[in-house]
Amino acid sequence: MPPVAESALEVRADFPIFTQRPGGQPLVYLDSASTSQKPQVVIDALAEHLGARNANVHRGVYPLAQEADAAFEGARARVAAFTSADAKTTIFTKNVTEALNLVAYSWGRANVREGDAVLVTQMEHHANLVPWQVLCAERGAQLRYLEIDERGELSLQALDAELARGDVRLLAFAHVSNVLGTINPAAEMISRARAAGVVTVVDGAQAVPQMPVDVAALGADFYAWTSHKALGPTGAGVLHGRRELLEEMPPFLTGGDMIGSVDLYESTWNELPWKFEAGTPAIAEAVGLAAAVDYLDALGMQRVREHERTLTARLLEGLATVPGLRVIGPPEAERRGGLASFTVDGMHPHDVAELVARRGVCVRAGHHCAQPLMRCLGLGATARASVGVYNEPADVEALVDALLAGREVFGL
Ligand SMILES: Cc1ncc(COP(=O)(O)O)c(C=O)c1O
Repeated sequence: MPPVAESALEVRADFPIFTQRPGGQPLVYLDSASTSQKPQVVIDALAEHLGARNANVHRGVYPLAQEADAAFEGARARVAAFTSADAKTTIFTKNVTEALNLVAYSWGRANVREGDAVLVTQMEHHANLVPWQVLCAERGAQLRYLEIDERGELSLQALDAELARGDVRLLAFAHVSNVLGTINPAAEMISRARAAGVVTVVDGAQAVPQMPVDVAALGADFYAWTSHKALGPTGAGVLHGRRELLEEMPPFLTGGDMIGSVDLYESTWNELPWKFEAGTPAIAEAVGLAAAVDYLDALGMQRVREHERTLTARLLEGLATVPGLRVIGPPEAERRGGLASFTVDGMHPHDVAELVARRGVCVRAGHHCAQPLMRCLGLGATARASVGVYNEPADVEALVDALLAGREVFGL
């Protein structure tokens, strides 16, 4: 393998989980596409908030409550700035799944009718697929798919052809695929959809943690992502929306905090973004997410991308040395995010994951919440290795060694 690239971030010491030695071996965590590990600064921010600033938000007049308000709304402003979005149109949700459901329930039910079409892609995570299935079934609309080619990429010509049919109301797609790794040409897709008057929803769950994302420049109507994959805590997701659309949309969930006033039989709604935040939000988690994006910004998202690209290139090279192993998705690291899904002849992906786990290597096996994609690839499951800021070339080597040893266990 080539020498270690200069892009190595060398931040592992910031992540306390790596002091663990499962079975006396180093922890080789290659499952960041599933959830990321957390740096100490995020753990400290959560503890500090809960230990020193904990009070409910938007309702107290005493100083502690005002501190909690400032921490929560400050976190919103910080998180919005991370992707160049406006804080007023940045809504905190539970995760990206809830953010996408918010759009499907609120915008979708108000705008999608019989005879309309919703366009998704074959590579969607269930989170950006099932809400549209349910919406289409309920409204008598048609769900259509943009197909992937043999490289696991989409065709802009096919998108143009779909848009030219004139019935598409909404285009929903992943910025980066969690199975193929494909980086989709989001800006191109959004501008073509916009020119055709089609509303766009981008699932940024795998993109925001590993590359610079400028929501304002992309120009999507809705862009959603999730804290726990971006070094932040679980329990927080983010939806950036276009103001005009959010203003018109009815609330998604109703109850406390999202109201202007409540009468016996009717209510009015709060301003943006609180109209879409019913009930007590994930306050400490939002503060933790703000610490995570501070950390990522200090590393520099361009460097993070370069680090992941370099490691992915090593991963692809290393996997290519394992006999019988087939990687799916674009062959070039430049065209994919920091992951590789693969199969090994003669071994079930779950066996692959279990065998490498014996050497402290954590990879995911299964359908990765993308069953329609698996079906179109003719696969039941794959193993998937994914990298984060804390991974080093030695992790890739540990995986490759464990795979070679695993083949021997299987007598291959
Ligand atoms: C592309 C993509 N979308 C959506 C999700 C769902 O994320 P969450 O469970 O945080 O809502 C994932 C998580 O695996 C993902 O990879």
